[in-house]
Amino acid sequence: MFDIHCHVLYGLDDGADSLDDSVKMISLAYEGGTRAIIATPHCNVPNSYRNYHSQLFNDRLAEISDRLARQKIDVTLYPGQEVFCSGRLISLLREGKIITLNSSRYILVEFDFNENSASAYVKLEQLVSEGLVPVVAHPERYAFVCEEPDAAIRMKDIGCLLQVNKGSIKGAFGRPAFSAARHILNERLADFVASDGHSPYVRTPYLADAFEIVCDACSMDYAELLFEENPRAVINNEEIYPF
Ligand SMILES: [Fe+2]
Repeated sequence: MFDIHCHVLYGLDDGADSLDDSVKMISLAYEGGTRAIIATPHCNVPNSYRNYHSQLFNDRLAEISDRLARQKIDVTLYPGQEVFCSGRLISLLREGKIITLNSSRYILVEFDFNENSASAYVKLEQLVSEGLVPVVAHPERYAFVCEEPDAAIRMKDIGCLLQVNKGSIKGAFGRPAFSAARHILNERLADFVASDGHSPYVRTPYLADAFEIVCDACSMDYAELLFEENPRAVINNEEIYPF
């Protein structure tokens, strides 16, 4: 499996706290069958984590990759960000402060949980007009997706892909997120399931149990698409087609 959303780089956001934490998270992911992770620290969050692309980011990715090689943990790390959609996003992109998922056409984006749907659609359309494919992180956690039945379809029509969190399909983020996640899966609107892992203890990057849930709730073919084939296409910057 390949995980496209994980806060595994220590000391940059509310994810891993230390190098040991990072390695523990990745070991746990390996035990669950994960063989590559895109490291996606929060970026451009108003009054919070900025994390624009930096030498510190590159150094930390290299440091952890080096430790994985020395401990013979067979997981490859790739660069990325979980980019908060603000009004300044397009100019930040043009200034080179934002990076996409492994420098592909795919950009992982998040919103305020109470984002207005019309505002979200405008921001997503702007990213598409820049030639990017927005991957909406955990759509099931936004109020507008829980409250507006057609929101997921609307985002797909704009040209976005949808990344459901493993915690949501297990009920870790409450009933509305659970119901919305299951609806998005049942309607085959999801394109990825990712861990959104933050720690080796809670919100972990272990994916095997979520893979089994999607196999049981949907099908093994769909689970393989969400956990393997589509994430691999992102890493390789290849086209992703509807299920
Ligand atoms: Fe995240």
